[in-house]
Amino acid sequence: MKQRIALLALGSLFVIQFGCQSDEEIKRQKYITEGILIYQNNCANCHQKKGEGLAALYPPLAGSDYLQHKEQVICLIRNGLQGPITVNGKSYNRPMPAQPQLSDLEVAELTTYIYNEWGRENTLTDVKKVTAVLEACKK
Ligand code: HEC
Repeated sequence: MKQRIALLALGSLFVIQFGCQSDEEIKRQKYITEGILIYQNNCANCHQKKGEGLAALYPPLAGSDYLQHKEQVICLIRNGLQGPITVNGKSYNRPMPAQPQLSDLEVAELTTYIYNEWGRENTLTDVKKVTAVLEACKK
């Protein structure tokens, strides 16, 4: 009897451990893992490893109030950005190069990573959403 109860308890533990990891959660974690690598290879040069930015040249991503505009962020990752902008009350005005080599999926992984790491979010930015936003910012 005791053994049965122990087995039952063990069984429910497994369900709790693995049953609660929804597909969405697993996908979010995958996106973040990929996003870190894409960030290190394509963005950290300028925005720095911890997203702190570089002096008056490159704006920070960590704690950036610009991240409130997620659709603009998705567009600028692919298309770059020119002209003056303000981030956390400081002005920046240097061109950010476009990143046409990044696929829609890579932009989605990067966006998910940035917002989970620095945007105080724990959500997934799905590639479907990113494709729709990228279509819209072409216009
Ligand atoms: C060559 C340097 C450079 C690289 C590489 C670069 N950026 Fe930028 N980024 C900038 C500059 C400069 C600005 C400000 C543009 C302006 O003044 O119009 C900027 C602005 C931004 C902004 C909006 C402002 C903010 O700080 O919140 C985001 C978000 C951003 N970059 C994300 C990225 C991501 C993600 C990557 C990697 C795919 C990347 N950048 C690669 C230089 C760079």
